[in-house]
Amino acid sequence: MLVFNASNSRALGEKIAKELGVKFENVATRIFPDGETYVRIDSKVEGEEAIIVQSMFPDQNSSLMEFLLIADTLKDFGASRITAVIPYLAYSRQDKRFQSGEALSIKTVAKLMKSVGIDELITVDTHYHHVKPGKFDFFGIPSFNVSAARLLADHVRERMSKDLMIIGPDLGASEMIKYVTGKEETLRKIKICPICGKPVDECTCRVKEKKYEVKELETDLNFHEKNVLILDDIIASGGTMMKAIEKVKLGGAERVMAAATHGLFLKDSLKKLKEMTDYLVVTDSISTPVSRVSVAPLIAEAIKKIH
Ligand code: R5P
Repeated sequence: MLVFNASNSRALGEKIAKELGVKFENVATRIFPDGETYVRIDSKVEGEEAIIVQSMFPDQNSSLMEFLLIADTLKDFGASRITAVIPYLAYSRQDKRFQSGEALSIKTVAKLMKSVGIDELITVDTHYHHVKPGKFDFFGIPSFNVSAARLLADHVRERMSKDLMIIGPDLGASEMIKYVTGKEETLRKIKICPICGKPVDECTCRVKEKKYEVKELETDLNFHEKNVLILDDIIASGGTMMKAIEKVKLGGAERVMAAATHGLFLKDSLKKLKEMTDYLVVTDSISTPVSRVSVAPLIAEAIKKIH
């Protein structure tokens, strides 16, 4: 078995190979002056089981293309089986058509992966699978979703407080929170219509679901003098997390911590979130300055299970 580290996941791929006790191979990659992707694999792969490690952020489109070129080349040179390890699976939030005519992007990604001969996929807290850990069918590719939620919660418990209240910033995080605490404690978004200004359930304007604006968050939870960890799958613009932090602080929390599996940290959200929280942590699914928890052991365990 050989682990191939693509350009977004060199360090993580090396850690996974070490956990498995197998060789890792860095794939030679570069971008041509016109923006096209170049890939070269120097290792002998005939008859080998190959694992490609590639998180699809930053540069979702280029990293997807690079991944496809690596997989297709491995097949051309005789790899016997290819496991795709994609800790951050790009396009997983485009998993339904919110408006008629929209691309179902995640399905297209799956079709591309199938076309280059991917035998199975391992991913981490993918939004597509609603963050439920375990096996799932990725449009015909046998797949396994690993959750980093418990590791993140334990990490914060050890460093900040044994007595943690763990909540999600919105209803979308309820499965993740349930997996960690057994409860589904999350904040709820109050959405209003941009035309009449009324909440969704009172509005008769027939506005498309996505057009409603989040006015504020509501909750019956009591944060007074509590140590609260807000846990989510993705921090992208940071807007969801920031709104939740403000709500929890207003509720009188003693300390507020934020954790997520994937830290995209767009624009200046990393700086803002550091200032707003007592502790901030994400995993190394994407390499960031606050990637303090590694998903390598979880992924190695999943690889052992399916091989
Ligand atoms: C939403 O469905 C996800 O679970 C995250 O809450 C969301 O993607 C975070 O995005 P942002 O940081 O841009 O608010």
